[in-house]
Amino acid sequence: MLILGIESSCDETAVALVEDGRVVRASVIASQFDAHLPFGGVVPEVAAREHLRNIDPLFRQALAEAQIQAHEIDAIAVTQGPGLIGALLVGVAYAKGLALGLGKPLVPVDHVQAHVHGALLGVTPTAAFYPALALVVSGGHTNLYRMRGPTHFHLLACSVDDACGESFDKVAKILGLGYPGGPAIERLAASGDPNLIAMPHMVQQKNRMEFSYSGLKTHMSNQVRQAKAAAVDGNTLEPAYVSDICAAFQEEALGQIVRKLAAALQLYPETRQVLVAGGVAANQRFRRLMAEQIDRPALFPAQSYCSDNAAMIAAYGFHVWREGQGQGQGQDLHQWDAYSRYQFARAKHAT
Ligand code: KG4
Ligand code: ZN
Repeated sequence: MLILGIESSCDETAVALVEDGRVVRASVIASQFDAHLPFGGVVPEVAAREHLRNIDPLFRQALAEAQIQAHEIDAIAVTQGPGLIGALLVGVAYAKGLALGLGKPLVPVDHVQAHVHGALLGVTPTAAFYPALALVVSGGHTNLYRMRGPTHFHLLACSVDDACGESFDKVAKILGLGYPGGPAIERLAASGDPNLIAMPHMVQQKNRMEFSYSGLKTHMSNQVRQAKAAAVDGNTLEPAYVSDICAAFQEEALGQIVRKLAAALQLYPETRQVLVAGGVAANQRFRRLMAEQIDRPALFPAQSYCSDNAAMIAAYGFHVWREGQGQGQGQDLHQWDAYSRYQFARAKHAT
């Protein structure tokens, strides 16, 4: 089964061709980083127009890379949501047009759940993955799911305020490190001591299945303000201090996730596999903490599939299509549309 994946939820236009949910034949991305840079953040209108400009050339590039003709595609998977509505509509409209033109089934998929399938790209399929616990740790989400199969997602926990990646970005801004903050903080933290500056431990109660990052961000903001006030010139931070505070912040930001995952594993001891995805999954310290503290095998995506891409959309689309759960497949094209907001189903879990 060769699935075409289309992603346009935020500031990356992406198209991919994936076989049987695992083998990537082509994966191309147009980043809009430069287009949004002058505005200091993603501008939805600019994002939509950039998607419109990039999506068709990317589709052609993906076909050329995989050396196939459009009619050889078996189905088309597209991000339905969540995301910026104008951006999503470009991908959805393009995918609907292709599906009609080529006479192929169309499979709308959830972007956040699709991230998890990024961790399974290139992995030999095995029934022993499930039941699994899956983490999506990105700039927009910090979600912990229990999975009973490739399309069965039960949300156990999410953030009550900022997402984990968002907190890396906000702390980097406080420290003047630029965007995206995660890679810059990880780089500086590598030469810092995580034990020199105390950090608050968020959501300490073991069975409270929630994440929280805004308190940690506020703590960082206060610390940095005080350190600047104490500096000789009243503003410049010592490089060693910046490394130490980055290391301490990173340890708590990631440690919170590892603690919650360990608690969830006690609630669900039958868990066979842990899957970790999203931009923050690129963090090497995160991978080491998981290896040290989690007693289940953990799969992370290759670096290129941690952040937004269309290979994960095609991979998830394969499973949704195969299990016949895709609403709007075939003749129902007009009966569904993009959705912009994430549905915050409250966590339900055993106590
Ligand atoms: O999944 P992603 O590309 O976009 C969203 O869908 O949000 O995630 C981007 C987020 C950003 O907040 C970025 O700072 C964070 O992932 N990130 C990292 C690292 N690389 C990216 N956070 C921590 N360590 C990293 N190495
Ligand atoms: Zn994403």
